[in-house]
Amino acid sequence: MSEYRTTARERMKGRCRVCPVCNGKACVGEVPGMGGLGTGASFQNNFEALAAVRLNMTALHDVKVPDTATTVMGIDLAMPVMAAPIGGVCFNMMADVPKGHGEEDYVEAVLAGCEANGILGCTGDGVPPFIIDAAVRGLTAHKGIPFIKPWEGAELFEKIDRVAACKPAAIGMDIDAAGLVTLRVMGRPVTPMNTAELAQVAKHVHEKGCKFIVKGIMTPADAEKAARAGCDAIVVSNHGGRILDHTPGAAEVLPAIAAAVRGKVAILADGAVRTGTDVLKLVALGADAVLIGRPVSVAAVGGGTDGVTELFATIKAQFSQAMLLTGCGCVRDITPSIIHGGFAR
Ligand SMILES: Cc1cc2nc3c(=O)[nH]c(=O)nc-3n(C[C@H](O)[C@H](O)[C@H](O)COP(=O)(O)O)c2cc1C
Repeated sequence: MSEYRTTARERMKGRCRVCPVCNGKACVGEVPGMGGLGTGASFQNNFEALAAVRLNMTALHDVKVPDTATTVMGIDLAMPVMAAPIGGVCFNMMADVPKGHGEEDYVEAVLAGCEANGILGCTGDGVPPFIIDAAVRGLTAHKGIPFIKPWEGAELFEKIDRVAACKPAAIGMDIDAAGLVTLRVMGRPVTPMNTAELAQVAKHVHEKGCKFIVKGIMTPADAEKAARAGCDAIVVSNHGGRILDHTPGAAEVLPAIAAAVRGKVAILADGAVRTGTDVLKLVALGADAVLIGRPVSVAAVGGGTDGVTELFATIKAQFSQAMLLTGCGCVRDITPSIIHGGFAR
């Protein structure tokens, strides 16, 4: 990985420093770029909330080789991890995009690297249209989950139909992108939705034969609305701290959200997951699976498919070791009991 990270540091110059610890401190306010919005508090809160969780270590048990596999929304995963949807290589990751490293190459690297590890990658959306074009191309060749922005009017349903034609198991919508006022300025408005509007989107996605995921849930009340609207899964996420300053970290709000909707919807979560131990922590706090964002971008820019493959192989080895040393033989065994002192907050 260190070679890939060195290459990524050169290619991402001016967009991402590829810091030894990706915690949102060096890239405050760098949106576009890879940073967090405003003071960077939301990005940093993701990191700090996860770091505050302490694990009960034990090696006096019967577990020999943990089984990292799981099933979420009927989708089999070799571990409870996916690559988060990330779009916009040319304005977020690289000032000068070398040939062979554009949006399509990025999506290919992410989806193929995930596939090689028995997990799924997600694709992003936005303006300009080459972001969704790249997603569609990638999803034609590989399994994956497309995420569409909450476009106002017909564009939302047109885009859902476009990605549904690739026959993904699920389609997501990052409802928190409704805060991207820049898109309205660019003449491509996105919008918040009430429960009835969300239910319409869920119904449309279901009619296409796909599960529906809503991403950007940060309160139990919103999680309950998502469940009532017929969503199959939520993603507890503050969008990597890129949408609203001063939100809590995902790990802070996850336990209360999980308590509210466990059994009604699948619960995904993301925000500053950097290691397999972080994966274990979010699962213990209530996630069925977690999404990883920026480290995947660094791996894809620095090493393409090989970089992403290597990253997730490393995460899997770390996750397995963390399961072993907390006495978890399978993903179902990962409960709040492995957290020292109960929930961190
Ligand atoms: C450069 C960048 C672009 C992103 N684009 C999207 C997107 O198109 N759709 C989406 O749902 N989330 C998007 N996200 C948010 C990620 O899916 C994810 O929620 C976040 O990055 C997780 O935090 P982490 O990067 O600290 O792991 C983006 C994040 C970054 C850093």
